[in-house]
Amino acid sequence: RVQIIRDLSELNLLSGQWCADDEQFALVPTMGALHDGHLALIAEAKRRAERVVATIFVNPTQFNDPADLERYPRTEEADTAKLRGAGCDAVWIPAAEDIYPHGFATIVRVAGVSERWEGEHRPGHFDGVATIVAKLLISTLPNIAVFGEKDWQQLAVIRRLEQDLQIGVDIVGVPTVREADGLALSSRNALLSDSRRAQAVALPNALADARDAISEGEPVAVALATARQSLEDAGFSKIDYIALVDAATLEPLAAPAGDMRLIAAAAIGGVRLIDNVEI
Ligand code: PAJ
Repeated sequence: RVQIIRDLSELNLLSGQWCADDEQFALVPTMGALHDGHLALIAEAKRRAERVVATIFVNPTQFNDPADLERYPRTEEADTAKLRGAGCDAVWIPAAEDIYPHGFATIVRVAGVSERWEGEHRPGHFDGVATIVAKLLISTLPNIAVFGEKDWQQLAVIRRLEQDLQIGVDIVGVPTVREADGLALSSRNALLSDSRRAQAVALPNALADARDAISEGEPVAVALATARQSLEDAGFSKIDYIALVDAATLEPLAAPAGDMRLIAAAAIGGVRLIDNVEI
């Protein structure tokens, strides 16, 4: 049984009880339209805490494109069924007017790590993410909060935010869950036609090839140019970026150094996909 909670006070009553019983609780923020990637976060949360709370909130302030917000899938019943199956204790589904009541005026901005890449291509996006995640963490104060590596820059922004505001929540990252062919699970994959879906695998393939080449000593610029070309050849129309970056600061790297990540964003058939790999 998963308890469906609308009011924050109800959730805080529940977590207060867990705290009194010496049970840890993990928060798993989502925007719904749940797939196996989200359920991997729930599974990791269950491994790390006695109690797990998911949140479902399609956060309007992080959508830079109103049409994107409009067409975002809303599948509450299917989502709660999946959360029940995954062994989630509760799901908090706040109303937009409770999160952003009339007069709401605060914006949380994480400088530096949020500025390039997604930050550049989706103006305002990370302000929206940082503001909602700060609110979710501060208003519920879980022991841990779980996020996917799929959105690597988002995870780095959230780690920076938690550290800077000393919220005292352990931020846990979970490796990207992929389809059999390697495409990262995303609610956007459903927007691809069959032929575009087949071509989309070029994105994880290009990242994996570039990772291998760089690991074998190929100059970074050469490996990235090859990756870009292979995306174009596969039918990706708009390559927003493909870059080797510092894993924590997201600063671009011209040569391998320290903890790194290869990140990319590109559109195929009008659908914008992002992905990244460890290197
Ligand atoms: P959403 O896109 O619903 O994703 C919720 C969480 O699931 C994020 O932490 C995301 O990184 C993770 N996730 C998505 N696809 C994944 C995959 N294939 N493998 C592993 N994890 C995956 O990200 C958001 O919502 C929002 O920005 C949010 C953090 C909830 C703030 O509104």
